[in-house]
Amino acid sequence: MTNGGPPGPAAPATAARADRISKAYGRGDARVVALDEVSVSLERGHFTAVMGPSGSGKSTLMHCMAGLDSVDSGRVFVADVEVTGLDDKRLTRLRRDRIGFVFQAFNLVPTLTALENITLPLDIAGRAVDRAWLDTVIDTIGLRQRLGHRPSELSGGQQQRVACARALASRPEIIFADEPTGNLDSRSGAEVLAFLRNSVREMGQTVVMVTHDPVAASYADLVLFLADGRLVDQMPDPTAEKVLERMKGFDLPGVIA
Ligand SMILES: Nc1ncnc2c1ncn2[C@@H]1O[C@H](COP(=O)(O)OP(=O)(O)OP(=O)(O)O)[C@@H](O)[C@H]1O
Ligand SMILES: [Mg+2]
Repeated sequence: MTNGGPPGPAAPATAARADRISKAYGRGDARVVALDEVSVSLERGHFTAVMGPSGSGKSTLMHCMAGLDSVDSGRVFVADVEVTGLDDKRLTRLRRDRIGFVFQAFNLVPTLTALENITLPLDIAGRAVDRAWLDTVIDTIGLRQRLGHRPSELSGGQQQRVACARALASRPEIIFADEPTGNLDSRSGAEVLAFLRNSVREMGQTVVMVTHDPVAASYADLVLFLADGRLVDQMPDPTAEKVLERMKGFDLPGVIA
């Protein structure tokens, strides 16, 4: 594949990294430490899952690493750029050009077709669409016949695949996905997971995904476990069974969906 594959040897092996980041919300009695000195390194060309009980800081970690939220202390890097050191203008440009984000709610524009949604961020940025890359992305989402349809004419899984394609369209350094299959039935979820995994395997992308689902986590190369704002464990080459077993170890009945 001419357009896919990992970047050349000059590119750093780490797509994104957090170095002892902390983040608290509120003050006084209402103060909640969402992240407590978390360090993670996300390898280029890998698919990483993030798991942990509700409130453990997973979304906060995604938002802080993607430059959507600020940290109180510590540093975040995307490739060789320190995100935590950027002014608003540079941060906006970095997010636009080098970071993809997929949310639990698909966030598609209802009046635009699938294809228009996919190219929207590039259109807004006034950037030319790399046709060959776009073709690769469209083939990978497997929705070539549906490109002229509006979101309401697509299934949940198809809509989320469009949202993933939109995140990939700018060929970002890394894609952050926060429970991308949380609103989907298991079949639609499997479509989205297969797409994310293919984007890593076949296009050399880097993906980090929050999930509560051990089956979803088993698509990843590595699972990171958060609890109480800390990174407490990691599991390479996960299987659904091993992940489920590890989740039981959190010993917090009812809090893991
Ligand atoms: N804007 C905010 N204001 C105050 N507290 C917040 C805010 N956002 C998150 N928190 C708190 O920070 C902690 C971590 O929240 P976060 O959303 O990162 O958890 P999560 O692991 O993504 O949970 P879930 O699995 O339920 O999505 C929680 O205790 C939450 O209540
Ligand atoms: Mg969350």
